[in-house]
Amino acid sequence: MDAIECIRSRKSIRAFKPETVAQDVLKEVISAAQRSPSYKNSQPWGVAVVSGQRKEALTKALLETLEGGSAPAPDIPEPLAWPPEVGARINASMAARGEHLGVDINDPANLVKAKRANFGFYGAPHVIYLYQDSELPLWSLFDMGLFAQSLMLAAHARGLGTVPQAFAIDYSAVIKKFLGLPDGKRLVLGISIGYPDAESHMNKFDSKRETTDDVVMWEG
Ligand SMILES: Cc1cc2nc3c(=O)[nH]c(=O)nc-3n(C[C@H](O)[C@H](O)[C@H](O)COP(=O)(O)O)c2cc1C
Repeated sequence: MDAIECIRSRKSIRAFKPETVAQDVLKEVISAAQRSPSYKNSQPWGVAVVSGQRKEALTKALLETLEGGSAPAPDIPEPLAWPPEVGARINASMAARGEHLGVDINDPANLVKAKRANFGFYGAPHVIYLYQDSELPLWSLFDMGLFAQSLMLAAHARGLGTVPQAFAIDYSAVIKKFLGLPDGKRLVLGISIGYPDAESHMNKFDSKRETTDDVVMWEG
């Protein structure tokens, strides 16, 4: 698979086979992501891979926090509002996915179900948390985005599925304590990773994109 095919065929995977991924494969994928460019080669990324009983324990802690009624407090705040054009795109995308899954996205009960699925890491055998120093500038968040995409593409090239999850950092303080991260770190993203369950209806949804002509301005 060449790079273009890898980029085009990657998609978020939300149902996984139970098989674990060999640690050398996970290491290869993370090592490839380390080749991502970063501002002044600052490499502002830390990685925690959580598997097995530790992952189960983390899910339990997150579900207990949710059931206890705690408000989400992610280190990267959830946006409260979007510009109309972007908001419309998000709504259309969510509606299309809701229709595919046969769920009413406006039913608050479904948001709770979605959180539970996220905290269970969609059944993936591993979750990779990305973190960095809290005082780093916006460019470092940008760099982490590059790292995340490289990691997901490298995983895809090795037959693995991934889904980036903002919801997975909802209870950042709980997770950082669980991981034993020192003060002064911010959690940026959780990425569930494992072998995709190709039969799952969840994985048969294909998200849409704007046309290229809608996003490009050609000058000269
Ligand atoms: C920063 C970021 C946060 C995301 N958070 C979540 C999440 O919490 N849960 C989830 O299921 N998907 C999450 N996604 C996945 C997006 O919904 C998905 O990338 C988008 O709908 C496009 O679909 P595709 O990845 O299949 O191309 C997130 C993606 C990004 C880049």
